Amino acid sequence: MLFAAKAADPARLNTPCLVLPVFEDGRLPEPSASLDAQTRKTFSKLLISGEMSGKLGDTLLLQQIEGLNAQRVLLVGAGKQEAFNAKKFVKLASAAGKALLKHNQLNASVCFSGFEIKDETPSHLAELCARTLVTQAYRYSTTKKVSKVPELQQITLLTDSAERSAVQHALALGTAIGNGMNAARQLGNLPANICTPTYLGQEALALGAKHRKLLKVKVLSEAQMRRLGMSSLLSVGHGSEQDSALIVFEYKGAAATQKPNVILGKGITFDSGGISLKPGAGMDEMKFDMCGAASVFGVIQALCELQPKINVTGVVASAENLPSGRATKPGDVITTMSGQTVEVLNTDAEGRLVLCDALTYIERFFKPKSVVDIATLTGACITALGSIPSGLMSNDDALADTLYQCGQSALDPCWRLPIWDEYQEQLNSNFADIANIGGPKAGTITAACFLSRFAKKFKWAHLDIAGTAWLQGAEKGATGRPVPLLMQYLLNNA
Ligand code: BES
Ligand code: MN
Ligand code: ZN
Repeated sequence: MLFAAKAADPARLNTPCLVLPVFEDGRLPEPSASLDAQTRKTFSKLLISGEMSGKLGDTLLLQQIEGLNAQRVLLVGAGKQEAFNAKKFVKLASAAGKALLKHNQLNASVCFSGFEIKDETPSHLAELCARTLVTQAYRYSTTKKVSKVPELQQITLLTDSAERSAVQHALALGTAIGNGMNAARQLGNLPANICTPTYLGQEALALGAKHRKLLKVKVLSEAQMRRLGMSSLLSVGHGSEQDSALIVFEYKGAAATQKPNVILGKGITFDSGGISLKPGAGMDEMKFDMCGAASVFGVIQALCELQPKINVTGVVASAENLPSGRATKPGDVITTMSGQTVEVLNTDAEGRLVLCDALTYIERFFKPKSVVDIATLTGACITALGSIPSGLMSNDDALADTLYQCGQSALDPCWRLPIWDEYQEQLNSNFADIANIGGPKAGTITAACFLSRFAKKFKWAHLDIAGTAWLQGAEKGATGRPVPLLMQYLLNNA
């Protein structure tokens, strides 16, 4: 799928299909309004007669309109003008994409530049449009036969000449973010018998080999981690035949003197709960317990595509959590890389056990400007926030505010929960410095409190994506979130 920005007169443009938005109340955004005037009110008449409702997402394909050079026009409903916003724009773009495919219009010119939305620029809408169409094209097919469907080929956004180059850049950005989301979805969707920690390590090395100039990749083996004292991370994989792995990506687009922003992903390739075994129903979904890691892969891939002049370090802490005769047991005490001891009261609270050693590793080997970890950490986060925002917790108010804002503008929202000191005592243990669970209350917060003990030396935020990383039900599959939020953050805050 290719996107282009073009400054052209839509009335004169010879294109197989011209996509025009129309509002429900009969009002038309530019250039639909001017084109309507030039075609003896063709579009207004259809809205008045009710042949086209203008409701958000409704579409109507028209052939050879007198007064236009386009061979066809696809009208797309934008709903009510006063209610129109960026979220609705995404629905409109998605409906347009689906209708183009349905009518086999793989090459089209799109007039999306005339929307006036508060705090939105034409370039940002263009970015969202590209991201929407790129993610819409993703199909999982690795372990399932799917019929080949055609893909959109060339989508041209018509713009003002003054905005053309900004829109062109935004299209490249939206494409890279969409591709990054699709990469994250693909890793998330792969079954756990394919997507093991070793597989993730190989994929990381392959990405490094593809982008040798910009990206350095290192995969630490179990032996190397043992030498560093990462017993907590290693304790999670003890019950599994699969080796654990720590993956380090260093994306270097700026001078080496610039400290990196670090992103850290939870990469539990399957979470059975371990000896504290989960119930059987829905356990298949625990293959998605590496979606935090997948978002790190997606971001690193998108950065390699865009090549911005920033430094970003991506870390993935990966293990498989299974019960066996060698598995960690409830009550076991382990010593983390930081020296703090942990009583493992529940082997199903394993995410924090891999992340804590990764945080200490980051503290020791990088001088991070900030660290954001991304983890499908707690079922309690789904109870608290559902599947709309990711949970956000941080030891730094400014960082939390920034991430919140990035989520809003990227349409990949997150919502902050407090990690006040009063919660910390829920992690007291009689036999170790910290317990790995904090009891039934505020499970999302106490999980973050656990992590905060390993994030004292830098600005740190934690995104709990348990509710947002994948969809349940008929459309079960990974979403690619929060790649858009992370990209917005990293690109804005270099
Ligand atoms: N990966 C799970 C969290 C999870 C559960 C994400 C369901 C999405 C859907 C995590 O490792 C876990 O098992 N957490 C426990 C923590 C508890 C033992 C303190 C949980 O949420 O039940
Ligand atoms: Mn678990
Ligand atoms: Zn887990």
